[in-house]
Amino acid sequence: MSQENFLGIKENTNLNRESEPISLSSEEPAIIFENVTKKYGDFYALDNVSFEVNKGELFSFLGPSGSGKTTILKIIGGFEEPDQGNVYILGDRINGIPPHKRKNVNTVFQNYALFPHMNVFDNIAYGLKVDGVKKEVIKQKVQNMLKLMKLEEWEKSEPHHLSGGMKQRVALGRALIKEPKVLLLDEPLSALDLKIRQHLLIELKNLHERIGATFIYVTHDQGEALSVSDRILILDQGKIVQIGTPREIYENPATRFAAGFIGEMNFLDGKVIRAESERAIVQIDRLGEVLVKTKGKIPLGQSITVGIRPERVFLFKGTEGANDINRVTGKLIETIYEGAIVNYIVALDNDQEVKAEARGGDALLLSFGIGDSVYFCWKTEDAIVLKN
Ligand SMILES: Nc1ncnc2c1ncn2[C@@H]1O[C@H](COP(=O)(O)OP(=O)(O)OP(=O)(O)O)[C@@H](O)[C@H]1O
Ligand SMILES: [Mg+2]
Repeated sequence: MSQENFLGIKENTNLNRESEPISLSSEEPAIIFENVTKKYGDFYALDNVSFEVNKGELFSFLGPSGSGKTTILKIIGGFEEPDQGNVYILGDRINGIPPHKRKNVNTVFQNYALFPHMNVFDNIAYGLKVDGVKKEVIKQKVQNMLKLMKLEEWEKSEPHHLSGGMKQRVALGRALIKEPKVLLLDEPLSALDLKIRQHLLIELKNLHERIGATFIYVTHDQGEALSVSDRILILDQGKIVQIGTPREIYENPATRFAAGFIGEMNFLDGKVIRAESERAIVQIDRLGEVLVKTKGKIPLGQSITVGIRPERVFLFKGTEGANDINRVTGKLIETIYEGAIVNYIVALDNDQEVKAEARGGDALLLSFGIGDSVYFCWKTEDAIVLKN
């Protein structure tokens, strides 16, 4: 039995032959990094990094400056070679293959890298011209791209007449015109003002949903990563700290670094002084005892850090509130009014400064004055336990 596919090629559709392996190619990851190490001299830019990016995912790399984000993109794009490890794009091992032969991949850099003396149309058309695509086809494709990027009225303009946001849309158009299966975006918005950045970020997300390609997005802005990503990889000093959905990382950070990098968190250090299978009492240095929920039983004497997000904290003047609440004492030293929210900085009795966040209209909290003694409180289930 056979039928024609959309290219007019006959395909065999007989499914009863047992010797034929079932193709799993649609499940194959877009990118696989397998134990990749990259050194510059003695310095490890990437140290045994392994991860997979699924097809169609919007996958972000998040990490501080110098953590190795661009190095990963350069390796995927073919601009750097790993010293060790394997890299696969859509199932093919691509170690040693030069950038221009990696047809499935295209990169958008931070600084637009447009050709200054070519107009918008020619900038976007460039890759197709190099490939010798017919003029009529180029025209049609570029017109479609100009429309998609909302640049129709600017096709004859040169880059220096465009705003930063428009230049970045031209750069995106130029990368997308060749319909890459994997688009690498290296901090594409970081040179732009906050408002334009937020606007383009939404457009980028919509674009991703419309075209269904795999997007790899590099940023050191946690807000950007949280709002657009299907999954985030957190990188620090060339090592993977955590991979997960924005929610997984926010609610269950793997380490103190991940917890502090995604959102804000107060950290209280202590030692386990009593433990049962799912909970423990922790002695916080110079503050007293608190109760934590644990996965399994933590050994007595283990040093741990209790992490509490500022939005999970309650401040009380007295011992009101439920009995099962954890409380430590301190003094309010600063109130930061930000309209929708108010931040309270408290100096705890061990001199550590911590933060509580409340909605702006909260009457109870607004009645606190600088210098007031306060109880800094949280529910046991809202704290995260990080082993040191
Ligand atoms: N060609 C090179 N020669 C020597 N060291 C390099 C080279 N390229 C990168 N490095 C170093 O490797 C580390 C990782 O660099 P990389 O550019 O990947 O960081 P990044 O996470 O992209 O940082 P940023 O947020 O600043 O862009 C840095 O310490 C950098 O100095
Ligand atoms: Mg970089």
